[in-house]
Amino acid sequence: MDKIKIFSPATVANVSCGFDALGFALNNVGDEMIFEKTGTKGVTISNIEGANLPYAIKHNAAGVVALAMLNQTKADIGIDIQLIKKVKPGSGLGSSASSAAGAAFAVNELLEKPFTRLELVEFARIGERVACGSPIADNVAAVIYGGFILVKSYHPLTIVKLPVPKELMVTIIHPQIEVRTEDARNVLQPAIPIADAVRQAANLAGFISSLYTSDYKLLSKSLVDVIAEPYRKGLIPHFDTVKTAGLQNGALGVGISGSGPSIFALSKGEDTAEKVSNAIREVYQNTTIDFKMYTSAINQQGIKIL
Ligand code: HSE
Repeated sequence: MDKIKIFSPATVANVSCGFDALGFALNNVGDEMIFEKTGTKGVTISNIEGANLPYAIKHNAAGVVALAMLNQTKADIGIDIQLIKKVKPGSGLGSSASSAAGAAFAVNELLEKPFTRLELVEFARIGERVACGSPIADNVAAVIYGGFILVKSYHPLTIVKLPVPKELMVTIIHPQIEVRTEDARNVLQPAIPIADAVRQAANLAGFISSLYTSDYKLLSKSLVDVIAEPYRKGLIPHFDTVKTAGLQNGALGVGISGSGPSIFALSKGEDTAEKVSNAIREVYQNTTIDFKMYTSAINQQGIKIL
């Protein structure tokens, strides 16, 4: 294989109760990326559409990942990358993760698959560090594995793929403002009270149990975030109003997608998801802030070859 074109999905990290540990991918929202072998060793980026991102390899989330993989395998080829970004950086939808994980997946294909899925997550984390200062794994693991994933531990990196209840749908509103992940991490408290740690752990456990049993009631009650949401919601205009509108119209839960500003709502079934979507849309239609909305089933597959 000399050339590959992929769809690399957008992702929702944290999912309220799983700060830095839970994530899932979306079905129809994500970037397209093209990777082509070249005769000259090293990595080039010949085209970036849809976002103002660096062409310099060491500053580009996809570029650094591809280069690290070529260096590790001592491959005697070069790779050219084209990025067609549909999800903007600073959206809370894992834009850098789509690039980094997409590069890990595609370069692995071009090299005839020397690496495991877990190793691809490790490579993709290099891109996350370049893009947002921390080698977080929740978004990139969701892109590579699909479905819900749990980052069980970082040392050693352990990813658990979790089941997806059949009727689960997600609605996203993406206010067109930028929140940098680094800034959203800086507003968090360096330590949390034991009572909050216990609540978060119990909710995460409840949520994971609900995925295995498709217990939508338990799922709903578990979608609580006492670690990040109280501090980050101030960065997102009208967060509380959106949350109330979503819950009043049947959402199982509403929370900040990753580090924001996107807000996600989980619903059971398409009809409820549509109601929730309409209610949330109405909140932002009454403001001067531009926004985009998406409704999707949970992506079970992760990256797709196009
Ligand atoms: N878990 C990370 C955070 C995701 O919330 O900072 C960044 O998109």
